[in-house]
Amino acid sequence: MFAAVSETIGTSAFARDVSEGLMDGTRKTLPSSWLYDEVGSALFEVITLLPEYGLTRADAALLRDAAPEIVRLAGEPERVIELGSGSGTKTRYILEAAAAEQDITYLPIDISGAALSACSSLLGKLPGVSAQPLEATYLDGIEYSLRGREADERALILFLGSTIGNFTPREAEDFLDAVREKLRPGDSLLLGADLVKPREQLLRAYDDALGVTAAFNLNLLGRINRELGGEFVLSRFAHEARFDERHSRIEMHIRSLTRQRVWIGALDRAVEFEDGETIWTESSHKFRPKEIAAIGERVGWEMKRQWLDPDWGFSETLFSA
Ligand SMILES: C[S@@+](CC[C@H](N)C(=O)[O-])C[C@H]1O[C@@H](n2cnc3c(N)ncnc32)[C@H](O)[C@@H]1O
Repeated sequence: MFAAVSETIGTSAFARDVSEGLMDGTRKTLPSSWLYDEVGSALFEVITLLPEYGLTRADAALLRDAAPEIVRLAGEPERVIELGSGSGTKTRYILEAAAAEQDITYLPIDISGAALSACSSLLGKLPGVSAQPLEATYLDGIEYSLRGREADERALILFLGSTIGNFTPREAEDFLDAVREKLRPGDSLLLGADLVKPREQLLRAYDDALGVTAAFNLNLLGRINRELGGEFVLSRFAHEARFDERHSRIEMHIRSLTRQRVWIGALDRAVEFEDGETIWTESSHKFRPKEIAAIGERVGWEMKRQWLDPDWGFSETLFSA
C-alpha cells in the first residue's frame, strides 16, 4: 500500500534479530523497533493518552505553541519529513503552520504500516498538504524522500516523541551525523527529547496502573508467536521497568517467571530461560537540555532555538544543517 524502500523490516530480518538476540549472546536483548507491529502501534497510541505518560502531551503543547516560529526559523520548508511518525497526531500543528505559507509535501517514514495508515488518513486531508507515506527505516526513508527535489526546496526533518532516546548517546550522535550528511545547508531538524526527571515519575510512566505498557512490551512475544511460529505462553513472563540512574535511562525488560524452554518454529530451535532471566526490549534515555544541543553541535548541526516544557520536562530543539 505504501512505498516500501527498506529490506530490513520483513520477516526474515525479524527472524535474524530474534535468533541473534535470544540465542547467540550471553544477555538476551531485542531491538525496540520490533515492538511496533499492528498491535504494538495501537497499544502505543493508548500509552500516549495515559495519565502517567505526560510525554506526548508535553510534546504536543510545545509544538502547538511554537509551530509558526519553528516553520519561520526553518526557512518555510516545502518538504516536511517525519522519522518514526507513528500516527502523527501532534504533527498537524507543524503542517498547518507550514501549509499556511505554501502547498507542502509531508513524508512520514515508519516501519509500522499500521501507524502509517493512521497517519496518512489523518494528516493527508489537511488543506495544502500532500502526504506521501514511506514504509522504511529512518535513513533509507530520508534518502528516498529527498529524491528529485528542486535546488531551492527546503526540507524540515521532524524526530519527535523522544524516539532519539531509544538510541544510546553514542548511537544518537552517529545517527544525527548520518541524517545531516543527507541534507543540504539550510535544511533543518526538529528534535523532541524527554528530560531527566524524578525516578518515581519515570517508573510510573513506563509501568502504568492499567497495564497498557506491560501489554505493549509482552506483545513482542506475541509477535514472535504470530510471525515466527513461537510457542511463548505470555502468562509465564512479566513486564519490568527499571531506571538506570548512572546512564540516565529507563529500561523495559520481559522477565521469565520460571525456568523454561520455548520453541520457535521458524528458527527450528528452542530458546532457554533461567528463572528471573530477562529480555531487554527498550531503552529510553533522558536528557538535559544542554546535552541535546551538545550532541547535535558535536556532529555539525547549529542549534537555532530550544523550547522547554517545565511541567512534565520535555524539550524541542531546532537545528540547522
Ligand atoms: C516511540 S514511537 C513515536 C511515535 C511518534 N513519533 C510520537 O511522537 O508519538 C516510535 C515510532 O518509530 C517507529 N520506528 C521505530 N524504529 C524505526 C526505524 N528503525 N525506522 C523507522 N521507524 C521506526 C515505530 O514504528 C513508531 O511508530
